[in-house]
Amino acid sequence: MEVARLAVELPLDQDRHFRKFNSNGQGGLRVLVPFREQDGTPAGYFEGAFLVDPELAGRLREDLAVTLLVALAAVTLTTLCLYPIILSLNRNVVRQSRDLLAGNIELMEVVGTAIAKRDSMTSMHHFRVATYAVRLAEEVGLDPARMGDLIAGAFLHDVGKIGISDNILLKPGSLDADEAEAMKRHVPLGVDILRKSNWLMRARDVVEYHHEKFDGSGYGKGLAGERIPLIARIFTVVDVFDALTSKRSYKDAVSFGDAITMIRDGAGSFFDPRLAEAFIRIAEPLYREIRAASDAEVEARLRALIDRYFALSS
Ligand SMILES: [Fe+2]
Ligand SMILES: [Fe+2]
Repeated sequence: MEVARLAVELPLDQDRHFRKFNSNGQGGLRVLVPFREQDGTPAGYFEGAFLVDPELAGRLREDLAVTLLVALAAVTLTTLCLYPIILSLNRNVVRQSRDLLAGNIELMEVVGTAIAKRDSMTSMHHFRVATYAVRLAEEVGLDPARMGDLIAGAFLHDVGKIGISDNILLKPGSLDADEAEAMKRHVPLGVDILRKSNWLMRARDVVEYHHEKFDGSGYGKGLAGERIPLIARIFTVVDVFDALTSKRSYKDAVSFGDAITMIRDGAGSFFDPRLAEAFIRIAEPLYREIRAASDAEVEARLRALIDRYFALSS
């Protein structure tokens, strides 16, 4: 009866057909084989239906289940044996990459300190300016993956000053035109120094563009507006602010209020106006917080930021 029902679906092609079917809960296989004349014209079909004995079907299913269980047990056992090995290898890789990162951060701080020692300021300028830069970057929603580059840039922005002669770098008064020109060389010199290390190269945008001005009147490449990389524009605001509010051997610190007035006046010409405005919004509590903290506290807080952001971007 079942075969008769299926027969109405005879295929019209010349291929052999095998199809599973189900008859009252019992599985079966239907076979259709075409017969052809010697010249290839179709002559008819052989059609057969094989009903699988329920006992045989059950045995097949059991065998399949046992095979699957054995395979699963083997896979699980192998995984369990390999797991501790994989875990310990992974731990080693994590530890080594942490050590490497810590070494690179140390290198960044050492190079930053070396230039600070030559340039009549303390390395605290780097710690403060990096802290201001991160806070401003957070305020304007900088991609966290770029935060590490910004911090490295804050430490290394003036690294090229290592190549500027003492009579210019340490001159007490203002520089004449030739000396000012020579001083500008610290930007390309800085980029050359960074080239010695792939890791330090992440600071490049800040080092190369930290003397650009928003209206294009700065130096470096003479870029203007948003063609200056965002992290360099962020850095410029906070570098000028910290230079203004810090005492150096050749100048006194200006008051917080005067520094903010100068930042406001420079918005649109010296600084990206959006960033100047954002900095003015957050500056007061941030300035008080940094000035009230000891050097060790400023360093410790920045190290916490370094831990957070270098893990994200390395
Ligand atoms: Fe500079
Ligand atoms: Fe600076």
